[in-house]
Amino acid sequence: MLSLMSVETVTPDTSLNAGPLTLIHEADNAPGWWRSAVIYQVYPRSFRDLNGDGVGDLAGITEELPHLADLGVDAVWLSPFYRSPQRDAGYDVSDYCDVDPIFGTLGDFDVMMAESHRLGLRVIVDLVPNHCSDQHAAFQAALAAPAGSPERDMFIFRDGTGPDGSEPPNNWQSHFGGPAWTRVARPDGQPDQWYLHLFDSSQPDFNWDNPAVHAEFERVLRFWLDRGVSGFRVDVAHALVKAPGLPAWGGRADGGSSEGFPGHEAPMFGQPALHDIYRNWRRILDQYGPDRILCAEANVDPLPRLANWVRPDQMHQAFNFPYLHAGLDVYRLRGVITDSLEALDAVGAPSTWVLSNHDVVRHASRFGYNGQGPRDGDGIGPADPQPDIALGRRRAAAASLFMLGLPGAAYLYQGEELGLPDGVDIPEHLRQDPTFARTGGERLGRDGCRIPLPWRAAETHLGFGHGRDPWLPFPSSFAALARDLQAASPSSHLALYRDILRLRRGLNLGRGSLSWAEDWCTGSSLGYVNGTTLVLMNLNHDPLEMPAGHVLLRSDPSGAGRFLASGETAWLQLGPDAAAD
Ligand code: BGC
Repeated sequence: MLSLMSVETVTPDTSLNAGPLTLIHEADNAPGWWRSAVIYQVYPRSFRDLNGDGVGDLAGITEELPHLADLGVDAVWLSPFYRSPQRDAGYDVSDYCDVDPIFGTLGDFDVMMAESHRLGLRVIVDLVPNHCSDQHAAFQAALAAPAGSPERDMFIFRDGTGPDGSEPPNNWQSHFGGPAWTRVARPDGQPDQWYLHLFDSSQPDFNWDNPAVHAEFERVLRFWLDRGVSGFRVDVAHALVKAPGLPAWGGRADGGSSEGFPGHEAPMFGQPALHDIYRNWRRILDQYGPDRILCAEANVDPLPRLANWVRPDQMHQAFNFPYLHAGLDVYRLRGVITDSLEALDAVGAPSTWVLSNHDVVRHASRFGYNGQGPRDGDGIGPADPQPDIALGRRRAAAASLFMLGLPGAAYLYQGEELGLPDGVDIPEHLRQDPTFARTGGERLGRDGCRIPLPWRAAETHLGFGHGRDPWLPFPSSFAALARDLQAASPSSHLALYRDILRLRRGLNLGRGSLSWAEDWCTGSSLGYVNGTTLVLMNLNHDPLEMPAGHVLLRSDPSGAGRFLASGETAWLQLGPDAAAD
């Protein structure tokens, strides 16, 4: 376990030239590849379509894996590719131990695994234990069985309220809009009970009070561990267990805190019984050796609650959503980074860092706003205020460079290495996120960040596939951002990511220490020292003078001389022999 450092201001070795430092986190020497890994999220339906049906597939992932090895990531995390009616892009699973035909076969999965391992990449898969698809055999059996049956007890069925049971059992709301309950009918057409779905009505929540549900997921874990996966990203890991009696909740459906409704009181999140589930899973993973990991997707606030999920005997790590939500607010960033390192050091776990994923507007678009950008999950439409993409990409490069200098593990979302923005002009009939339909179009949903990748500018469908139109259309800006063009340019976003990852590995920054460089922590800039590397981010319009040191990398190499321009991050190697450029 790491010891928690007291926060103190120290005067550093003068050779560092970085002024006073506030030490937050010591270098980490504990074993475990995942403590400092860079993990690349592959969103299978949008990665590469090798069979030409317009949707990405496992064979397409295998085909392009060498690009990811070349980028310098340590592992890939695959979003769901299991059998699914695709009502929520695969997060509605109808068979946890098979591959959906749109993505290929289990044989294709094995080939992809073999190729990953040949390239030195580990593979983590998504596990969706809170809910399944309404087409899952267990839910179909529950529908066919009467109230009170063991089949129904796999899910959360309740009688309705009101004189004739026509009102939902409680007031919980779905994340995607509308009530979190749907009523079913008996075989004779008479109205019957209601079932709970925190997400779409096609995604019934499992009943984790039932040991049969535990047994089923233990089987699923072993199935994929036996096929060689290095672990699981656990979908809505904080939601599986609901408070006894399902008490009313008038707060946010996603469990975030709001006026009068602190997130930690939400009855569908963060219940104590979750710990036993994860202890048990950890025991199963450990039987396969120390290298298999669990990462919690637990979007909770305040930050120290994140550490609830990561313990030596439970999850290895958790996504750091507070970091993603801190945006470019330097005060918030400093607070979140300090809190993350302190809270996770206290439980012997590394922090993780993340800026984008398949549920949020890409950071190249988010950072293109000066004021308020879109809310999580809402997307950007043609009628909304539009981001300044050039500004957003410049800031995104700065933010990525800043993030990847931090000690701990980092998660990247496919396409961020190209600086891709969100797609905005998606015709309504092509929108697939259930949020769009469930809110009558009021919330556009997450399709904009899920546009397929542009691989080769001159090829049909930008090289994503050579057959049918991609499942979502490319924005016109994507051709100029295609990977092959960027691969040929040393000043591209892609080249920057490659350089960052090479340096991060070479300097062992993922295992390093963190001290705030106080002279650089102003209202519009932030600086930290990791080992002997000073990382500076300047978000002001005014340039900032850098201290003496050897400039290793900067996010805007066109910036003049020794000055950082607005929206830029630089890494400097500090030391007595170093000279400024
Ligand atoms: C996933 C989403 C999904 C939801 C329901 C989330 O946390 O990341 O994409 O819609 O869980 O499974």
